[in-house]
Amino acid sequence: MSLIHTWEDKIELVDKALDSFLPGIEMYPGKIHEAMRYSVFAGGKRIRPLLMFLACGLFTDRWQRALPAACALEMIHTYSLIHDDLPAMDDDNYRRGKPTSHRVYGEATAILAGDALLTMAFALLSGTEQYKNEYSEAYQSEVGPEIGLKVISELAEAAGSLGMIAGQILDLEGEGKTVSMEMLDDINSRKTGALIVASLRGGALLGEAPAGDLQRLSVYASLLGKGFQVVDDLLDVEGDENKMGKQTGMDRKRKKATVVSLCGVTKAKSQRDTLYNNAMQELSPFGESADELRQLTRFIFYRDY
Ligand code: IPE
Ligand code: IPE
Ligand code: MG
Ligand code: MG
Ligand code: MG
Repeated sequence: MSLIHTWEDKIELVDKALDSFLPGIEMYPGKIHEAMRYSVFAGGKRIRPLLMFLACGLFTDRWQRALPAACALEMIHTYSLIHDDLPAMDDDNYRRGKPTSHRVYGEATAILAGDALLTMAFALLSGTEQYKNEYSEAYQSEVGPEIGLKVISELAEAAGSLGMIAGQILDLEGEGKTVSMEMLDDINSRKTGALIVASLRGGALLGEAPAGDLQRLSVYASLLGKGFQVVDDLLDVEGDENKMGKQTGMDRKRKKATVVSLCGVTKAKSQRDTLYNNAMQELSPFGESADELRQLTRFIFYRDY
């Protein structure tokens, strides 16, 4: 199944909106904007924006109002990848089918490009004049300040030192060590799960989901978030570098604690299958309205890139 084919329109919309929000390379100082654009448009799958749209779409037809928040998520996610690849972290040379940011622009610029993307995500959602255009119009006019602030705090918490950053530091500390399955589960829930959960909860908040539905969706999101990293760990062992756009075998090289290093490929796959079944189960109360989300869930758990 091709992600691009199924959700082509939504992915195209995200790309156009990102292009409209990110300063052009002619904007002084051009180097930083060039580096930001290089990584954002290097060819990510845009899974987090899609999750946000589909979550929002469970509760309203007006999922377009989630466009700025979907772009903000992709900015935060791209920043996390730029920094994750730095020599001081995973030290990777390829990302999204291209040389990593620091290989092209140097470490200082890569660090700053990440910082700028993270900051821009919040400027965009806080309604800064510069980002007011046709792509943020629905968000500006349909989302009141109360919900807007909830979404901002959802993203900030997920990206912060109790969320993604917590997972990243624990991941680095875990290199070369034997960690328990509970510990690994916690690392994965934070380093990858947190932004996935924020995508779905943010989307649901923007769709004005009732509290009970938001809670149910959060349970699904947390299973999906863990599964996302289990699959990433499996692909590091079994995936095709060309298809994935990043080097494989890096987790073993860096002695990362992963579900594969802890219990082997076969058990990792059965853990993936269990998480998949449990996540799908959590979608059942949403009936047919969640069919697209089921399709995307299936893609995430059984993707090959
Ligand atoms: C990769 O995320 C990093 C993890 C959190 C596991 P994606 O697989 O979504 O990467 P892109 O955005 O498609 O490049
Ligand atoms: C990345 O996990 C999680 C992030 C927060 C970026 P990995 O380090 O396994 O992601 P890849 O394999 O480099 O994409
Ligand atoms: Mg990493
Ligand atoms: Mg990495
Ligand atoms: Mg990985």
